[in-house]
Amino acid sequence: MKHLFIPLLAIIIFGCSTQNPTTMERYRPQVHFTPHHNWTNDPNGLVYLDGEYHLFFQYNPYGTTWGHMSWGHAISTDLITWKELPVALEEYTDAQTGDSTMIFSGTAVVDFNNSFVDCDTPDCLVAIYTSHVHRNNEGLRQHQSLAYSSNKGRSWNRYSKNPVLDIERKDFRDPKVFWYAPHQKWIMVLVVPDLFKVQLYESKNLTAWTLLSEFGNAGDTLRIWECPDLYELPVHDQPGKSKWVLSLSGSHPAGDTFVGMQYFVGEFDGTTFTTAQTQPLYVDFGKDFYAGIVFNNVPNRTIMLGWVNNWTYANQIPTGSWRGMFSIPRELGLKETTHGFRLTQHPVKEWGGARIQKLNSIADLATQSFELEVELEEGGAINLFKSGTEKTTVGLREGKLFLDRTQSGLVDFQKDFASVESVAIEPAPEKITLQIIADQSVIEVFTTDGLYTLTDQVFPTHSKPGVEVVGNAVVKNVWSVGLRN
Ligand code: FRU
Repeated sequence: MKHLFIPLLAIIIFGCSTQNPTTMERYRPQVHFTPHHNWTNDPNGLVYLDGEYHLFFQYNPYGTTWGHMSWGHAISTDLITWKELPVALEEYTDAQTGDSTMIFSGTAVVDFNNSFVDCDTPDCLVAIYTSHVHRNNEGLRQHQSLAYSSNKGRSWNRYSKNPVLDIERKDFRDPKVFWYAPHQKWIMVLVVPDLFKVQLYESKNLTAWTLLSEFGNAGDTLRIWECPDLYELPVHDQPGKSKWVLSLSGSHPAGDTFVGMQYFVGEFDGTTFTTAQTQPLYVDFGKDFYAGIVFNNVPNRTIMLGWVNNWTYANQIPTGSWRGMFSIPRELGLKETTHGFRLTQHPVKEWGGARIQKLNSIADLATQSFELEVELEEGGAINLFKSGTEKTTVGLREGKLFLDRTQSGLVDFQKDFASVESVAIEPAPEKITLQIIADQSVIEVFTTDGLYTLTDQVFPTHSKPGVEVVGNAVVKNVWSVGLRN
């Protein structure tokens, strides 16, 4: 958890800086969820129940930098419009021992078969989270704990016999629990971050957990492993065929000081995850997609939400009264390419509801929240949010999709922010089609049937859409986007 200390240092250095909230409110996206105020990081406990998608999230109820970790809560019926509810799970201090516990990342399940005895109402929500404990005189400990809600997440009780899983380690966290129907049991995946190890456990009642297997020291082990998830995906165009994907957060594809997400494609037999994969594969090639996990309990599709930020500068982004946002929910798929199985990502079909108006041309755009469909040939590019010398450029150069934010506006708030991201498209294309979603301070790019995505934050100092075509680029479609109510 080394990187958490960098943010802590940043709190001390930057936490007291004053920013004008009204000026800074301009960076608040229209169609990406942000908490009304204060800090957020990872999405937690993503689950669907009775027509509501629940987004819990790492949240600091007391400030705009990391600390006092609790679970914030928002709900949506369409995955686009979110309503923020009161904090669901708050950090707490044990009156007897004086130990203080933060609620770190975790999962939520619908206890459809009443396997957890403490909650006897049907369809109880059970949250399984990492209890991050500051023990008086004994240092840090991370173990896994439960809380449950019998009113659709509106109020919660902590399980009286917490923790439910403790291997007596300082770093042991981020449980994801899902129902494994073939064996009629719950599976938990979580990480020993500093050992680059995923552990898998099973349980019938959500309270007694038995170790099944471990998976580790594979793929990218440059930085850390956090926030694992394991899910089955059908293979595109191969009816009846599916594979399992283990995704987790840690190193960035550029192999530098940033963090990012990687995944493994393989098999899961209810006990062990295995893969023949020899090279690391990455989820997103921008700098701002981290801690992504998928929703539980959504029939027939797998939907991931990521935190749009990067620990390298997360505590310093110049957004004022709130800090941190979440990606557009993405539907995941799997495609067999000449290089092997690859993840595909597309905005969920509900995304169409965020399109306010189809416009005739980029000249009709009035705000910095819009969507473009763009065709690029080698050397072609599109400038976004351009005014004077300020711009963010998305283009195709030497077969690579790139996003250059070095002149995107405010970049000096942290020394590494002014970056250029790129990914080689394979095989080298003559032409690519991009779906670009721009929303005030975030740009999400999807291309090549969803095989490549690139997500980056930018902080322009003006409010013009500033879309400009450069070289071999054609804008095929333009929409203004936003919320209707
Ligand atoms: C990932 C992470 C998790 C942890 C949480 C704490 O961003 O470090 O591993 O549970 O954030 O806020």
